[in-house]
Formats: sequence, C-alpha cells, structure tokens
Amino acid sequence: MFEELSARAHTILQETYSVKDVVVRWRRPTERNFGDLSTSAPLQLAKSLGKKPREIAEELAKGLKGFKGVERVEIAGAGYVNVWLEPASLLAELSSAVSACSPLPVRKKEKPVLIDYSGPNIAKPLGVHHILSTVIGQVLANIHQHLGYPVIGVNYIGNWGTQFGKLAVALKKWGKKPAAACSVDELLELYVRFHNEAEKDPALDDEARAAFQRLESGDKELEQFLQDVTKVTMADIEIIYQRLHVKINEVRGEYHYRNAMGPIIEEGKEKGIFTKGEEGALVVQFPEELNLPTSVVLKGDGATVYLTRDLAAVRDRIETWHPQVMLYVVDVSQMLHLQQVFATCKLLGWDLPQLEHIVFGRMRFADKSMSTRKGNILKLSEVLDEAVKRADAVIGEHGESIQTDDRSALAEMMGVGGVVYGILSQNRKMDIVFDWKKALALEGNSAPYLQYTHARARSVLRKAELKKEAALPKKSGPLSAAERTLIGTLLEFPDALTEACAQRMPHTLTNYLYALCQDFNAFYNADPILKAESAARTLRLALTSLTATVLQTGAELLTLRVPDRM
Ligand code: ARG
Repeated sequence: MFEELSARAHTILQETYSVKDVVVRWRRPTERNFGDLSTSAPLQLAKSLGKKPREIAEELAKGLKGFKGVERVEIAGAGYVNVWLEPASLLAELSSAVSACSPLPVRKKEKPVLIDYSGPNIAKPLGVHHILSTVIGQVLANIHQHLGYPVIGVNYIGNWGTQFGKLAVALKKWGKKPAAACSVDELLELYVRFHNEAEKDPALDDEARAAFQRLESGDKELEQFLQDVTKVTMADIEIIYQRLHVKINEVRGEYHYRNAMGPIIEEGKEKGIFTKGEEGALVVQFPEELNLPTSVVLKGDGATVYLTRDLAAVRDRIETWHPQVMLYVVDVSQMLHLQQVFATCKLLGWDLPQLEHIVFGRMRFADKSMSTRKGNILKLSEVLDEAVKRADAVIGEHGESIQTDDRSALAEMMGVGGVVYGILSQNRKMDIVFDWKKALALEGNSAPYLQYTHARARSVLRKAELKKEAALPKKSGPLSAAERTLIGTLLEFPDALTEACAQRMPHTLTNYLYALCQDFNAFYNADPILKAESAARTLRLALTSLTATVLQTGAELLTLRVPDRM
C-alpha cells in the first residue's frame, strides 16, 4: 500500500510537471493528528520546478484524493501533504508487524556476521562495566539473528598475558591451595597482593616476567594452571550470563592464540611491516596519514602483547568463519588499540572483511550509591543483586497494584531487566549514566514500564478468554484517534528493527518500545476494549494482542523477560 501510494505520487508529479526521477518520501508525522503519512516533497521540489510549494501540494493532494486506500488528504504548513488511510488498508499493512515478530529463517548461504563481545578477563570477577559489551553485543547478535543473518558470537576472553606470570608467582608464594580449588575472589586477592608486594620488591616483577616467558614457551604445568584459572572464572561468569540471558556461541580467547602468533610475527618480518624498535622490541609503524602511534608487537624480552593476539584472532576468524563483517563491541578506551589492529592487518595485505568497532562509552552511576572501593572492582553480580533488592522494594511499595504469584521471579525480571534496559536505552556512543530511580521506575523509559504494559495487555486478553491469538480483522468502522496512533506505531516495528540492526544501535529499539507502551496505554485509557460493541471489541483485542507480542518480541531481543501478570 505504501509503495502504491509512493508510485501514485510519482505519477502525479510526472504527469503534471513532466519531471523524471522525482523522489517522494513519505514518513509518519511526528504530530500524530496530522495523519498516517506525510510528505514534504512539494517543499523540496519547489525550486527546481519553479513553482510555489503549496501549488505543488495542491496538485498532489488533488491526485491522491480518492486513490485506492486513501481516506482523506490535507495540505498543511508551507507545503506538506498529509494522508489518512482507510482502516482496511492500515489493517492490511499490519501484517508486516505481525511477521516481524517471528524470526526470519537463517540465510545459510550468506557469510556470517561475527560479533566479538563480552570478553571478560580471567582470574577476576566480572566487573560492572563488563555488562556493557556483554549486553550490547548480545542484543546485536539477537537482532541480526532475528533478521535472518547467520551470526557467530565470539567470546574473546582475556586469558593470556604478563598478568598470568604475576598470578602464577603469587599463587606459588602465597597460595594456600591449587588454582583449581581457588575462588575467583581468592585469585583476585592474590593478584592484588602481588602488586602490593612488587612495589616493595621489584625482583618479583622479574620472576613474573620469567614465568610468563616459560608459559609462552609451552611450560605444561603453567598451561595447566592457566586452564584451571580459566575454568574457575568462566564457571562464575556463566552464572551471570544466565541471569542476563546471554549466550555466546564460541569461546576463543587470547590463550587460543598462543601458538598462532609465531607465524604472524614471521610474516610481518618478511613483509617488512614489523621492524626493530627501541630496546630490542619488534614494532609496527603506520603510514603518516593514519596518524597512529607506533605499536609494539613483540617486547624486547620476546613476550607477545595484546595486539599480537588480536592479529592472530583476526586471521583465525577469517579462515574459520569467513565473516562478511566483524563487529568489535569494545569500550572507547580501546579505540586506538583496535585502530592499530585493523591498520596492521591492512598493512600485512590480508583480504579482510569489513571491520567495525562498535564503540561505547564508560558507565557511571548518577548518584554515588555504588562506587568502587579502593583496589576493588565493583562486581557485576553485586550490582545485579542490589537491583533485584531494589526491585523487590518497588514491588512492596506498590502493594495491591502489582499482582504476582511469584514475587522473587518478578523482582529478578524487573531488577536485572531494569539494569540492562537502563544501559541499552542510552545512545551507546555517549558515556552511560546509570540512574537507579529511572531504571526501576514503573513510569517512563524503563524495563518495569515495558513489563507492566505487557502484563496489562496480557491481562486484557486473559479476561477476554480468547482461545488463541486474536486475529486482525480485515476491515473496521472509523478508527478512533487512539486506535489510529497505536496502529501507526505498530506499523513502525519492522523499521525499528532494521534500523537498530543497520546502525548497531540498541536504543533505537528501546525508544520504539517505549513509544509503543505509551501509545498502548493511551489507547487503553481512551477506548473501552472488553466492553466495546462487537466489531470494535474484535479490533481492539487484536491490537492488544499484537501489542503484547511486539513488546515481548522486542523485550526478548533486548535480553529482557516480560511477565504475563504484574
Ligand atoms: N578483554 C578485553 C577487556 O576486558 C576485551 C576484549 C575485546 N576484544 C578484542 N578482540 N580485543 O578489555
């Protein structure tokens, strides 16, 4: 229908002004009572046609009046044309929103989209800031998958590097049990102790360096130690992933590349890309126009670095999965690092897929409620527990108005969802300011509001005792303003998904869902649903049902869960 309307508008302009190749864009007016679709084409064309915008608008309006599916046409402002569609054509269009609720089948022949996300560091508890990469990455994976892309999620865990030399030394000196029996907190304690002691006794650093050297030359005992430490940490992190509904298909971390770096070093040397730098290090220098500082690929003592491993990972991913694009969901502090990685791959002459840094800012709390105690990381698990506690208090405060038969499940959903949504609803390119009050409020752009609205819609459907999903009617009498607005917003669902995907911006989807909640609640307050006469009741139940499904689909893509009752 929308396409037919566009085509019709083209024809009118072509016939009236004998112009070719005009583009008439229709969009939904921000003012909801300005119709279903609007175009500013007359304003854009006025100059080239040498006509007044209003004159062109009148021609367009005249030609569109009475066109199939058009209910009403109006000219507005200096040269806008606003169109109201007939209920039947709006309802027909809604099938696109219905289909957008089901995932598209995977296009198996297409090259996959590879997403590098989460990437926790081993031997440390997951810190709160790690939630950003984890959930932003998971949402991008979910949306791509929903839209039919083959997706490879990769967890590039940090389990190689000089810090493990330190940890090995610390464990040997002060550890009371083998690595496999330590908790993650105990591992962190050992690491912190190493740093404190090394300040007094720098010889410890040499020991650590030597230990890492042994690790890099394949010392079996140390490798076992590293595997144990990885296992212990990942078991802990897995619990958090489950709470967050995060599932990453592949774990290939830095350890995985311990033997793959050698050949790349050789290749770089042969190609003259890696050259001798200061203090015996091997470095890569970038062409001046890139404006990137020289980077070490091998230290003077022969130790590899973070960059070396990322190079090996790029190579391996290309050979293993042949991705069309690799998305690195990594915080802004690693911008330079990734630029250097990407640039080095190009210098090496590799045949590369598109490489994209999906950058995000730092997270901080709006109040000082949760600041890092000195020397400690603020643990994500603690923040999630705190969120659930606060969500439970919100439930308590609302007394009778929140109904649930499983309060702890609801608090978990609201609390964890509140934190996740509070992050995802912000433009990731900015610093993320997390505000407890906003995140857990039942009103506003928050998870609890979305969850509440979903439960409200489901409750209406329960009361109607429908056997299955309420199907959309083919036609309807005149639409109320609230119905028309709700339909218009439901119609935007497919575009909200494709836009969030193309721009890799989860907040496009949260903004959309927030608008849908507002429009549904306005409709719920304005129009009786269960008590409406038969035809209106059928339509309104169908809209309620579709709203619930869209909210649930959207929420799950955002890793949230929504209750049926609340
Ligand atoms: N482990 C890193 C960190 O915690 C994130 C890994 C990012 N991915 C990558 N390929 N470098 O900061």
